[in-house]
Amino acid sequence: MKACVLYISRTGNTKRLAEAISESLKAPVFDISTAPEPSVTQDFDLLVIGTPVMGMRPAPEVQSFVKRLPECTGKKTILFCTYAIKQGGTLKILEKELTPKGYINILNVSKRGLKPSKADFTDVLDEVGKAIAESKAT
Ligand SMILES: Cc1cc2nc3c(=O)[nH]c(=O)nc-3n(C[C@H](O)[C@H](O)[C@H](O)COP(=O)(O)O)c2cc1C
Repeated sequence: MKACVLYISRTGNTKRLAEAISESLKAPVFDISTAPEPSVTQDFDLLVIGTPVMGMRPAPEVQSFVKRLPECTGKKTILFCTYAIKQGGTLKILEKELTPKGYINILNVSKRGLKPSKADFTDVLDEVGKAIAESKAT
């Protein structure tokens, strides 16, 4: 599966996790704030999309990026967020945008902590690896 990682980060938490996922999947990583057009995703069949939780929602730039993604048939997504206290329906909000467009979401995963270090990301990386392996098996 050809994957890419897309994220927004204000203070570095989501960025560090995005980079750890990118390293683990050997997938390119794009910072949405440096304006890749949604068409950047056309060559990939798994989009791993990350956001900080802001007011129990995704960052507005991620929401608008996801809204502008083209329709597809059966591309897969993994959604992730970082947060401090309560994530609310952050990832569900993104999922609701993606599902009607034909994306199949295979995992929502989150990391809580004020300053998670790279060493803390093992559980997320394991979940990502497992979800990809399972989705290939079906
Ligand atoms: C404006 C703003 C709103 C936030 N809202 C929430 C929230 O609703 N729930 C929560 O748990 N954390 C919230 N946070 C904390 C961030 O989600 C958390 O620190 C996150 O890891 C930041 O990611 P980043 O370093 O990639 O920007 C908020 C932070 C900011 C700056």
